[in-house]
Amino acid sequence: MKIGVSGASGHLGKGVVSELLQRPDGHEVVAISRTPETVSGPAQGRFGDYNRPESLAEAYAGLDRLLIITTADPEPGKRGAQNVAAIDAAVKAGVKHIVFMSAVGTRQEEEPARGASYWRGEQHLIATAPAWTILRMNFYAEALVQLAQASLKQGVLTGLAENRAAFVARGDVAAAAAGILIGDGHAGAIYNATGPERLSGAERARLIAEITGRPLAFRVISEEQLRAGLTQAGLPAGAVNTVVSIQASFAAGAFDIVTGDVERLGGRPPKPLRDVLAGALKSPSN
Ligand SMILES: NC(=O)c1ccc[n+]([C@@H]2O[C@H](COP(=O)([O-])OP(=O)(O)OC[C@H]3O[C@@H](n4cnc5c(N)ncnc54)[C@H](OP(=O)(O)O)[C@@H]3O)[C@@H](O)[C@H]2O)c1
Repeated sequence: MKIGVSGASGHLGKGVVSELLQRPDGHEVVAISRTPETVSGPAQGRFGDYNRPESLAEAYAGLDRLLIITTADPEPGKRGAQNVAAIDAAVKAGVKHIVFMSAVGTRQEEEPARGASYWRGEQHLIATAPAWTILRMNFYAEALVQLAQASLKQGVLTGLAENRAAFVARGDVAAAAAGILIGDGHAGAIYNATGPERLSGAERARLIAEITGRPLAFRVISEEQLRAGLTQAGLPAGAVNTVVSIQASFAAGAFDIVTGDVERLGGRPPKPLRDVLAGALKSPSN
């Protein structure tokens, strides 16, 4: 079987390629991105640019299964258009089963909401792919590490409401995706890759403080305060909107979901948040 990973040069994509190569099933792995020269064997690198759909025809040719990893393009409407272009190209190329990376809590939303591109991709996939699977990821534990590093400087981790989230290690999302790609019986399924536990804002601030030995409190602030702080810190308007949109999703409980999907699909239990934070935050630079 020939399995493609689109977005293979990124953090998640590299993880999926590595997981696929570790599984002894004799399949061929094709790693697709705009930088195929970064791919090392035994995976085959191919050029494919979501913004140049004509390049995707060749990139997806001959694949039995394909994972589409979305980009982080912040321009409203851009990522949704990329998702549709990738799905169309895969269907046209005759890919038999398309797996789409989406986000937990995806629902009908309009641009510029953060989830609109995932909604558009999911709906287009379901309507057009011969066989499909959707893997919705929870908020990355690694993304919380970045938030923690910034928050430790102020001693405050902020949110628009107290909320719970089951942060997932990116490597665990990769294992779940690989499990779908090489497995059977996943057509028509929507899975949620989550961490093993739901932590409140206060609980995660306490955990970060305990691991780093530095004070950190969780504080609820208003959207106006969040916008003002981010703007003052020098973030461009688009990035401010993205952060506010993500924080609104936290407040709405979008990341408050725990499933057994990582273990079921990836073959190992998901990492507790403590382990990811400890690995990343214990170094003297933090
Ligand atoms: N759940 C979360 O907390 C969370 C956090 C951050 C992001 N995300 C989402 O998860 C996705 C994967 O995360 P990640 O950490 O692996 O991101 P990443 O490291 O930024 O990887 C993004 C991938 O997309 C490729 N790409 C970018 N623009 C492209 C284009 N025009 N055509 C084709 N490929 C393109 C990049 O490859 P080249 O540049 O080499 O082409 C790279 O392989 C992100 O893109 C974002 O949608 C989720």
